[in-house]
Amino acid sequence: MSEYILEMKDISKGFVGVKALDHVQLQVKPGEVHALMGENGAGKSTLMKILMGIYTKDSGEVIFDGKPYEVANPKEAMDTGVAMIHQELNPILDMAVYENIFVGREITKNGLVDKFVNEQDSIPK
Ligand SMILES: Nc1ncnc2c1ncn2[C@@H]1O[C@H](COP(=O)(O)OP(=O)(O)O)[C@@H](O)[C@H]1O
Ligand SMILES: [Mg+2]
Repeated sequence: MSEYILEMKDISKGFVGVKALDHVQLQVKPGEVHALMGENGAGKSTLMKILMGIYTKDSGEVIFDGKPYEVANPKEAMDTGVAMIHQELNPILDMAVYENIFVGREITKNGLVDKFVNEQDSIPK
């Protein structure tokens, strides 16, 4: 078993006219905290979006928890235990702040969002 919880090997990703990632390596041991640092446009978000299944890599390999890791979308990533807090938040403007915070984790009743309960719980007493 590898000593790493996450390995991103030789990850490359190009967009039209720009090579965002060129054989990038990232190795993370359990319990470690890493900072990805680089100027704007260095490719930090692109690397994390590949991990989240938002972008597909052009080449390279990801190993998570000792197994090949291929996710098609953020739901699959989250089901595997990978989560991302986005730098650029995209709130849904038609929804209240609390609704944005709880997107995807709403309190439901019989499979429907229980708006009354959600609102009661969010109103400061
Ligand atoms: N969806 C996209 N379409 C085209 N180019 C993109 C896209 N996302 C990122 N890029 C480009 O890829 C490069 C890396 O961007 P990004 O990963 O956002 O960098 P960072 O997060 O380090 O600032 C930049 O040149 C950026 O313009
Ligand atoms: Mg970024």
